[in-house]
Amino acid sequence: MNILYVTSEAVPFCKTGGLADVAGSLPQSLAANGDRVSVILPLYQSVADAWRDRLHFERYTYVRLAWRSLYCGLFSYERQGVTWYFVDNEQYFKRPELYGYYDDGERFAFFCRAVTELLPLLPEKPDVVHCNDWQTALVPIYIHDEAVREEFYKSVRTVITVHNIEYQGRYGRETVEDLFGLDAGWFTGGTLAFDGDVNLLKGAIVTADAVTAVSPTYAEELKYAYFAHGLESVMQMVEGKLHGVLNGIDMERYDPASDPNLTANYSLRRMAGKAKDKAALQRMMGLAERKDTPVVAMVSRLVSHKGLDLVCETLDYFMEKDMQLVVLGKGDGKYESFFSWAQAKYPGRVAVHLGYSESLAMQIYAGADLFLMPSKSEPCGLSQMIAMRYGAVPIVRETGGLKDTVHAYEAWNGAGNGFSFTNYNAGDMCYVIGEAVDLYHQKPEAYKALRKRGMAEDFSWARSAKKYREIYDSICK
Ligand code: GLC
Repeated sequence: MNILYVTSEAVPFCKTGGLADVAGSLPQSLAANGDRVSVILPLYQSVADAWRDRLHFERYTYVRLAWRSLYCGLFSYERQGVTWYFVDNEQYFKRPELYGYYDDGERFAFFCRAVTELLPLLPEKPDVVHCNDWQTALVPIYIHDEAVREEFYKSVRTVITVHNIEYQGRYGRETVEDLFGLDAGWFTGGTLAFDGDVNLLKGAIVTADAVTAVSPTYAEELKYAYFAHGLESVMQMVEGKLHGVLNGIDMERYDPASDPNLTANYSLRRMAGKAKDKAALQRMMGLAERKDTPVVAMVSRLVSHKGLDLVCETLDYFMEKDMQLVVLGKGDGKYESFFSWAQAKYPGRVAVHLGYSESLAMQIYAGADLFLMPSKSEPCGLSQMIAMRYGAVPIVRETGGLKDTVHAYEAWNGAGNGFSFTNYNAGDMCYVIGEAVDLYHQKPEAYKALRKRGMAEDFSWARSAKKYREIYDSICK
């Protein structure tokens, strides 16, 4: 089977969030099953600068977008059994950031048109085109639109994966023809219309042959208003083609036994290095160097759905315990100033780094004993899996992928791989943090066994890649 994976970001080329991790590791696992897999993404300035010498220029063409005729270059690169295609147009993509421009709608409409028009020009015709989030949502729509006239497109099947339904690509009604180059019927017939606007993600959800969400629990949650950001009725409608497939992580990249960012490497069998990483982290972050005080870590974008309000409300209560808190992230001003305040209030016990650094993140996972992720909603979440792999026991709220990957510790039979609480409630979170810290202090052997169970979990992509393959099979029949 030929699979074309369409994404707006992928590690190691460019990244703003978890989608890049998924797009940078799932394709290799699909290819390992014997399928021919290609990935296509925009050639952003950052990619061009760092990888230019290694990219092979394939061709150029002109792409139609409504009344526009736009240059489209195509570069390729072979890596780990996967062909990576890059779509070049400097007007749209030679910019410092990936997103956040006034013309993002036009930029990604161009990308989607380019992908659609390049399909017949690629060496192998894809059986399945797998799209991700709103930036690529026009691809299933354009493919269906072309299939009415062009034989080539009739047999191409499409999948859309929802990584986070908060971002839907909403534009004014006037964009249908003039910007997106579609017949008004796509709006008036209802496919793209939502609450009077054009909603690209909704259009893809309705049009694609299969819809996937990044965890089984998120697939269920999306049918409810609390999680669906308005699209619950649409998700209920497509229930028959909706699947929840849990993300994996790149087990080679995230491996404490070989991670070059760490002061000392360690593994399930040889844990000694972790204590060194903890001491190094405490030193580096200005925390008291105390080996018997648990370090609780958060590595997170500082935005509301990550559950930070719960932390703000109860910090003074859980800091009454003998513990330290390390926070790495950036985001909303109110959380940034809260954590700066907390650091000043608890010198040597709370350490905050406002920003993001992959290397520091890995040192935090390695140095931490516990990892806090009290998300209000979390489609999948990768950090809790990375934390477990690095022996930082997760404390999570039971939502989305957190619910599917973290199983609460049961003292009576020693089961579980972390701590969790059900309701979005500060008191409940605070109580569970207390339980985790107490276990660390009072039952070190039980804590270590819990940590080991997390480290032994298999979060590799193999199982999920098989699930995606089954979905592809089911729609290609
Ligand atoms: C989004 C979600 C996150 C998920 C990631 C990869 O960033 O918010 O929960 O892990 O996509 O699918």
